[in-house]
Amino acid sequence: MTDKYTQLVSHGLGRDVAKRLGLPQPVELRRYQPGSPLVTGPVLVTGDSPGADDIATTLLGWGLDVRRNALPKEKLGAIIVVLDAVQHPGDLAKPVLTAGTSLRDLGTNARVVTISRTSQSAQTPAGAAARQGIDGLVRSLAKELRAGSTANGILLDDDLATTSPSALGALRFFLSGRSAYVDGQFLTVSSTLGTLPSDPDKPLAGKVAVVTGAARGIGAAIARTLHRDGATIVAVDIPAAGDHLAAVANEVRGTALQFDISRDDAGHRIIEHAVERHGRLDIVVHNAGITRDRLLANMDESRWQSVIAVNIAAQLSINEVLLTSEHFKDAPRIVSVASTSGIAGNRGQTNYGASKGGVIGMVRSTALLMEPFNGTINAVAPGFIETEMTARMPFAIREAARRLNSLKQGGQPRDVAETISFLASDAAGGISGQVLRVCGQQLVGA
Ligand code: NAI
Repeated sequence: MTDKYTQLVSHGLGRDVAKRLGLPQPVELRRYQPGSPLVTGPVLVTGDSPGADDIATTLLGWGLDVRRNALPKEKLGAIIVVLDAVQHPGDLAKPVLTAGTSLRDLGTNARVVTISRTSQSAQTPAGAAARQGIDGLVRSLAKELRAGSTANGILLDDDLATTSPSALGALRFFLSGRSAYVDGQFLTVSSTLGTLPSDPDKPLAGKVAVVTGAARGIGAAIARTLHRDGATIVAVDIPAAGDHLAAVANEVRGTALQFDISRDDAGHRIIEHAVERHGRLDIVVHNAGITRDRLLANMDESRWQSVIAVNIAAQLSINEVLLTSEHFKDAPRIVSVASTSGIAGNRGQTNYGASKGGVIGMVRSTALLMEPFNGTINAVAPGFIETEMTARMPFAIREAARRLNSLKQGGQPRDVAETISFLASDAAGGISGQVLRVCGQQLVGA
């Protein structure tokens, strides 16, 4: 799907005209390519806690060009603001304002990442205020950054080091082009589980992944991305999408499995196929979804029921089977596709909003059930993504939806896929029950 406006204002005359008229000027986002550098310039680490020193040392170990003090006029690739030891809102000033003086030196598509602690685990009101203040700070800063740069945060539970495996996994994700369309968001790390991959370009090597709704759109991008990252793919879709499904499965050298995920035996079929054809099952991505939009006043039962059946009831019943299977016990991963409509709501989508809000509730609750075998479950909530589904929107609504986010453009299916690949990896072993929005910091609603 093409965004002609972005193409027009990215170069030459179009860019000059857009600038003069004060029109939105989206830039081409830095997206991950295997072998591409983690960041595109020196990294400034602010904060004076031991946790900040540990982060600086780790980044040096990764071969990055690290600064503890900015050099005048040097273009930076990223600023990491380490706030793990703040006890009072007054403690924010020094590290935050130090970062602030370097913001004008950020290059294009740069990153600001905060590392702090969850406010729920604070021991005092002042501590909770400082920690929760970082939430408002990051979301505001994300709205100030320009030229494809993003601001995101990592939240650590109290007993975790800034260098715990999934904190570093999340840091690599936020710094890299994998998080191109993730902006103004937080990931919480709640355990020491997780390991960084020996080959950062093959984080899913040896894993077998099932992707539902893989015949097109976001699902096809997930299949391609997980395959690129080393996984063997089982691509699932309805029989009516059989030709496209076969094409995707062939392209990723995986296998195709045709059935409707709302069938009663869906969970058993997934496990049987994965184990018989590929010997194991490590990752299930619940991506298949449908819309049947109507205002609630005009909603008929079949529209309501079909959306609930495919978008959430099918996931619940497949998970029930997965959770009791002996083949899904080796630190397995489930990643579900929710939607910003399930968080902020969307006119005409009460059924869809209920189903996607349902995905978020399901993920939070199922995380506890995955714990005994070191499994994780998370959701990704896309905003406006350029797919066949959104290409069918009326022009004016589509154009508004594209621009109403901090990055002034729609996301690509692969942006959702990159986030899913990270959450499915060993590096995210300490992250569970979370919902990560891939929406360019959509400006509408909650
Ligand atoms: P799409 O309509 O292009 O693709 C969905 C795929 O799921 C299709 O191949 C379809 O055949 C398959 N599918 C539908 N019902 C199925 C069933 N019962 N059993 C097996 N497969 C089934 O949709 P798109 O845009 O790729 O969306 C993928 C997911 O992302 C969905 O869950 C959607 O709700 C979600 N999403 C998409 C957004 C966007 O902007 N495109 C925004 C937010 C969420």
